[in-house]
Amino acid sequence: MTDLQGKNILVIGASGGLGAPLCRALAAAGARLTITGRDTRRLQDIGLPEATALTAELKDPNVGRTLVDAVIDRHGQLDGVVFAAGVVAFGSAAELDDDVVDELLLVNYLAPLRITRAALGVLPAGGFVVNISAVVAETPVANMSAYAASKSALTAFDAAARTEARRKKIRIVDARPPHTETGLATRPIAGVAPKLPTGLTPESVAARIVSAITDDELDLPSSAFSTG
Ligand SMILES: NC(=O)c1ccc[n+]([C@@H]2O[C@H](COP(=O)([O-])OP(=O)(O)OC[C@H]3O[C@@H](n4cnc5c(N)ncnc54)[C@H](OP(=O)(O)O)[C@@H]3O)[C@@H](O)[C@H]2O)c1
Repeated sequence: MTDLQGKNILVIGASGGLGAPLCRALAAAGARLTITGRDTRRLQDIGLPEATALTAELKDPNVGRTLVDAVIDRHGQLDGVVFAAGVVAFGSAAELDDDVVDELLLVNYLAPLRITRAALGVLPAGGFVVNISAVVAETPVANMSAYAASKSALTAFDAAARTEARRKKIRIVDARPPHTETGLATRPIAGVAPKLPTGLTPESVAARIVSAITDDELDLPSSAFSTG
């Protein structure tokens, strides 16, 4: 079991529909949080005044080192990272603009890769990284090819890096939730979402991810989020 009491956890995408309930659940378990997003007001709206709030642009190639150094400077130790940021785009492979594809890969794949690599240099034994991928890494769907590819890349990175980190007793957890009612699909960086069935509640997905952290799980496939 991993006890989160007093642990220094960095949450990226804390202002998001999944990030905010994740932060509240981690704080309720006693974690000391450093929370990041692009907008100070949205970070304040989470309602955790005791958390250290940092603004960060995930397209910045130095984002990994910058965020990890900030936690070490402020708190002296980093015990865990939860990457809950991301962007989505809809449209066929032929239609998507190149800059949309670049943004999907930068935010959904390269940013968590860079932050994970930086964190691996400082996390102690028992430390963890949770990267939120998505169900489309398991089952890619039409009109989401570049989004699915960005998530599959992250899932592949997590699986390989996990076996390397195990020697240092650090866990890299890949979480692949199904559709969740965060509003993500209503703010794509390109295209329009198809009609989607009602998704999971953000609170239930956040609770499942936190239980995976405390129960020392290594992988969270989409089936792990099933409510049935
Ligand atoms: N919702 C779903 O159905 C679903 C299902 C499976 C997986 N996921 C994955 O779960 C993660 C969270 O999704 P969500 O539904 O919570 O989305 P969301 O509500 O739109 O939140 C996205 C978060 O990412 C941050 N972000 C986006 N682009 C950024 C950038 N360039 N620099 C810094 N921060 C940036 C946003 O910060 P700002 O506040 O600054 O915008 C926000 O905190 C994503 O990786 C998503 O792919 C979601």
